[in-house]
Amino acid sequence: MKHYLQFTDLSAGEYTYLIDRAALIKRKFKAYEKHHTLNDRTLAMIFEKASTRTRVSFEAGMYQLGGSVVHLTAQGSQLGRSEPIEDTARVISRMTDIVMIRTFEQARIERFAEFSRVPVINGLTNEYHPCQILADIFTFIEHRGPIAGKTVAWVGDGNNMANTWLQAADLLGFTVHVSTPSGYEVDEQLAFGSRTPRAGCYRVFDDPLQACRGADLVTTDVWTSMGYEAENEARRQAFADWCVDDAMMAVAQPQALFMHCLPAHRGEEVTAGVIDGPQSVVWDEAENRMHVQKALLEYLLLGRQAG
Ligand code: CP
Ligand code: NVA
Repeated sequence: MKHYLQFTDLSAGEYTYLIDRAALIKRKFKAYEKHHTLNDRTLAMIFEKASTRTRVSFEAGMYQLGGSVVHLTAQGSQLGRSEPIEDTARVISRMTDIVMIRTFEQARIERFAEFSRVPVINGLTNEYHPCQILADIFTFIEHRGPIAGKTVAWVGDGNNMANTWLQAADLLGFTVHVSTPSGYEVDEQLAFGSRTPRAGCYRVFDDPLQACRGADLVTTDVWTSMGYEAENEARRQAFADWCVDDAMMAVAQPQALFMHCLPAHRGEEVTAGVIDGPQSVVWDEAENRMHVQKALLEYLLLGRQAG
């Protein structure tokens, strides 16, 4: 049994398969062709933080695969009344086939997985957001071909998205240029653990403009992630110069794409001109969450499929 708790839980070969499979699943979806590989399977989704895209993409995707979904929140379940996560895992995994969780600490999803009889997928934790990076890489490949050897500029917080980009760069052979305000750097320990990352898989820049120079993809995220709202004011001040604007896009490759996992705050981490401009692929990126996650659900439950 395989869980998907971090980007490093799958190999480069498995990602090649998933990307091809997601492309096939997307083609069939666009042609209104049935793809019921998960008939009668049930996905449980547990949200301890808010969501629009993750909820809709997993829920719609699971129904499109012929399965069904159970949706729980912390407040609406016994999790909000201190039932231990281990007990919740034991119970839910006896009634469903696969579980997606969005929560706070990575340790909490790891504890759930330890006590689960069925595969567990990370739908975002404070530390990682692997389903989003899978969708982002699929989107890049769809628009520009292979990502190996390319440069991704990360402008903003050293957060769950940044950590996961670094894991992906190490595994899939591209480079991340990271620029964060001082005090908000990425934590190498979270990204790589005790492994030594591939030489050149990431470079740190004080100046976000320099990070964008020559990049094939420029990407950013909210200044304040869910769970860090108390730091909102301090972050607004610290991040003021980390707004992706036309000047940053102008020093990137002429063909550079812009991505944002959404939700976005125009005028904070990105200007309206960039996110609503011609280089932005944020709507494809959001849609692709569903296609890659359908491939992931199928893979975790059935393994590789031929047709
Ligand atoms: N990008 C993303 O995970 O969006 P939601 O928070 O809306 O799920
Ligand atoms: N870094 C953001 C991503 C939201 C999808 C957060 O954790 O809130």
